[in-house]
Amino acid sequence: MRGRDPQVARAPRRRGRPLAADADRYELYQRSVQSPEFDIALMTRIYRTHNGRPPLRLREDFCGAAALACAWAASRPDRSAFGIDLDPEPLAWGALHNLRALPAAAQRRVQLVQGDVRTVRTPRADLVAAHNFSFFIFRERDQLREYFRAARRQLAEGGLLMLDVLGGSDTQTEDREEVRRIGGGVRYVWEQKRHDPINNRAVFAIHFSFKDGSLLRDAFTYDWRMWSIPELRELLAEAGFAFSEVYWEDADGDTGEGSGVFRRRNQAPAEGCWMAVIAAGTLPPGRGAARRTGTKTAKSGKAAGRSPRVRSDLFDHLFGGNSR
Ligand SMILES: C[S@@+](CC[C@H](N)C(=O)[O-])C[C@H]1O[C@@H](n2cnc3c(N)ncnc32)[C@H](O)[C@@H]1O
Repeated sequence: MRGRDPQVARAPRRRGRPLAADADRYELYQRSVQSPEFDIALMTRIYRTHNGRPPLRLREDFCGAAALACAWAASRPDRSAFGIDLDPEPLAWGALHNLRALPAAAQRRVQLVQGDVRTVRTPRADLVAAHNFSFFIFRERDQLREYFRAARRQLAEGGLLMLDVLGGSDTQTEDREEVRRIGGGVRYVWEQKRHDPINNRAVFAIHFSFKDGSLLRDAFTYDWRMWSIPELRELLAEAGFAFSEVYWEDADGDTGEGSGVFRRRNQAPAEGCWMAVIAAGTLPPGRGAARRTGTKTAKSGKAAGRSPRVRSDLFDHLFGGNSR
């Protein structure tokens, strides 16, 4: 989460303190783009498919304010979580707002660690999650492979690394803005500032606008390499993962927008903007407990028969709290 110096722009011809000046960018971020309960349900389903039991220990890499780690510990009394982030600012915010909001027993099951995800060691986990495209920060193959290797070493037997991935032709443009209301008279603005086709580097920013007309500009900015799914799967294999599989979000039949339902796929239709989840495992498929006991794997959908479609509010869908 970059954005150390968000700028407040005052509304034209308004007096008094602009609403943007008192806004809490972390609170707005969580309201706009995070949905930990959804992520927990999806990761649990995938892990259970492979191992025949629910995952208990989570390591949330690039955790920021650790919304996922905290929700994880609260989701079951036998669950614990580690959250790792380089930046002390979101960690402190998360400790104050997310961790402290949990019952005391759940608080004790969460540990937040400031450090680099490639070097911080934690007890081996059932799941390592790197969400909201955080690993796109690594722009060289060697860096990303090193991260994947480190993540693999943090996994227990049968453990899974869970990555979300964003792509599609609409993410390869410039000067594009998507705006969405997030309640309380606030609008979330996703700006795609730059895309470089030579190195696939892209710059994005999140701004928030308020009902008095003021703007919190560059609340968060991102300078990412837009990795493709095949590149990621090749690097995961090079990093020693035994398999990786792709969960693709189904389209809603009526609206063409994301339905929030993810299915394992081997092919998918071209879409202007898509989001997928990659699960990478340490044991070859068939060696996990679930396969040994005959538990069904996720069914493949009918991707090949689905019509290509255009999503009208692409980024609403992708970064919206509800659809994920
Ligand atoms: C896009 S935010 C993701 C926050 C949260 N995981 C989410 O789902 O919204 C990316 C976070 O990664 C952190 N980060 C970047 N490089 C890192 C590294 N090498 N090790 C640990 N954290 C890192 C940043 O400080 C930032 O908080």
